[in-house]
Amino acid sequence: MGKSLSYKILESHYGGGRITWGAEIPLAVDQVLTTDTLGIISFLYFESMNIPRIRTKLAVCYVDHNTMQMGPESANDHLFLKTFASKFGLYFSKPGNGICHQLHLERFGIPGETLIGTDSHTPTAGGLGMLGVGVGGLDVTAVMAGSPFYLTVPEIMLVKLNGRLPQWTSAKDVALEVLRRLDVRGGFGRILEYDGPGVGSLSVPERGTIANLGTETGATSSLFPSDSLTRDYLHAQGRGEAWRELKADPGVPYDEVMEIDLNEIEPLVAKPHSPGNVVPVKELEGLKIDQVIIGSCTNSSLRDLTTVAHILKSREIHPGVSVAISPGSRLGLHHLSKTGLLSEIIKSGVRILEPVCGPCVGLGQAPPSGGISLRTFNRNFKGRSGTPDAHVYLVSPETAAASALTGELTDPRNLTVSPTISEPDYTVEADDMILPPSEHPERVTIIRGSNIQPIGTFGSMEDGFEIKVLLKLGDDVTTDLIVPAGSKALPLRSNIPALSEYIFEAVDPTFARRAQKEKGGVIVAGENYGQGSSREHAALCPRYLGVRVILAKSFARIHMNNLINFGILPLTIVEQEEYEKLDRGDVLIFQEVRKALEKGDVLKVENFTKGRRFFAAFNFTRRQRKILLEGGLINFARGVHA
Ligand code: F3S
Repeated sequence: MGKSLSYKILESHYGGGRITWGAEIPLAVDQVLTTDTLGIISFLYFESMNIPRIRTKLAVCYVDHNTMQMGPESANDHLFLKTFASKFGLYFSKPGNGICHQLHLERFGIPGETLIGTDSHTPTAGGLGMLGVGVGGLDVTAVMAGSPFYLTVPEIMLVKLNGRLPQWTSAKDVALEVLRRLDVRGGFGRILEYDGPGVGSLSVPERGTIANLGTETGATSSLFPSDSLTRDYLHAQGRGEAWRELKADPGVPYDEVMEIDLNEIEPLVAKPHSPGNVVPVKELEGLKIDQVIIGSCTNSSLRDLTTVAHILKSREIHPGVSVAISPGSRLGLHHLSKTGLLSEIIKSGVRILEPVCGPCVGLGQAPPSGGISLRTFNRNFKGRSGTPDAHVYLVSPETAAASALTGELTDPRNLTVSPTISEPDYTVEADDMILPPSEHPERVTIIRGSNIQPIGTFGSMEDGFEIKVLLKLGDDVTTDLIVPAGSKALPLRSNIPALSEYIFEAVDPTFARRAQKEKGGVIVAGENYGQGSSREHAALCPRYLGVRVILAKSFARIHMNNLINFGILPLTIVEQEEYEKLDRGDVLIFQEVRKALEKGDVLKVENFTKGRRFFAAFNFTRRQRKILLEGGLINFARGVHA
């Protein structure tokens, strides 16, 4: 029987025979990607393992998130990351060099290989035919220490693309169409594998955009074949030798199939405050806007910026709108400069930002109070822009540029300019902002600023606890809501006691104080708890504050792993009635916790306040249960690597 491309890659990285859906398999990892925000935690734990050099074939540390440098903290973090990378064997991409996923696609991705990254949009590498999976920093620590990555085998959904995109639509509209159909939970437990005759009309950066946004469906990864366009892209990057052809076998049966006729795609927009809230642009045409931002790891490729430049050429942006562009990479910016397109963008009145995450992670360009912002990004969660009452709409670069000219949400098909935009030349000239690891690690001293605080250790799982419900929340709680980004909190990522004071700040500013007073507790939530960014501080900081259990109706994949890795019990509330009966302040008693974990059984919970008893379910693998019993992945891994 034929095999899907996803299966082929999984099989070639797993030595254990037939792969079955739902099983947890150890997967060999070829490449690792870290960002500055989660890299620090990962590296601090790695240091504590006393392993002299990373054991992964290739690892890269990108500084792209926390680059504002309003005080010494961020620069101190950068120095720590740089010296750690040099000493322990990672490449280091300097601040300002570009956004991790864009750079990884350009400089390191290899078709058919596996990549894990401390960022939820690591599947962007799927645009090259590389299997990328977003994970928490501790998973990366374990892999750098020589462990495989443990993956729960997803279902494979074929997304069959037919036809060709009409003028003025682009990959972002395809990705939004996928989100319109699957919403933010429809990709759970799946790899979205793209194939069909329409794939050949999409360039690698366009495929990267679609793979990037697949994360918002909750999918484990997204994957495209590696074909002649992939070859040409790699060749232009000076990496032609990395190419090989990869595709699914003909007639392979998939777990599910979704067909998209590209001819039918129209400009789409995701309304506030969810990437899954998708409607056609024409439904909202005329909506007055305050701001347009083009960039982020979703839409900042040279292809996107070239398109925008052609639309803005010899025109001026609307006087009532602030427009900014953050390129995905410095090389892309350099290309724009060489071709004169950067001048066209500047002349039109656009503000040029550094090639970093910037506004996407709430660093700069916060909209005005109650403002309407159009962004080519992947997330429009409430407050993520830095303005709590702003309304963020997600659109394609074409729609963003058209709207920048008119001052209102505009269907780019209304533009009178000609859409004759040729594929840009991606040829690379210089790579001087990526530093290789030192060949003399013994001579490298790690530089550690005073803001880099030791994380400390946590004890093993107790057999029972009596704790209060500290907070009760609804569905789709994002990691942004748990631990904010932005200019106040981001520089504290290496200082857990300080960052912990911001936990749940947007919903309850008293949370951190109450949690410490109560010496920990339980958080109750609805479906999809921990949606969004992979930031493991959303598990680490609650653990630091003493949170022992999250009781939710369901969990987002990466966050559930992060909770387990930090020794917090993610338990599922099976009955809606029990969720409804739980209230903040209720005292819950958990007994024989260790026994339940050892046996893989359900856990009995007593709501002492309400005089009720109920069962909380879990579906942990044997390995995850051991991690929880040890009190987290580091305790577990120290045992394994001792
Ligand atoms: Fe950065 Fe935003 Fe992507 S924070 S990695 S540009 S989702």
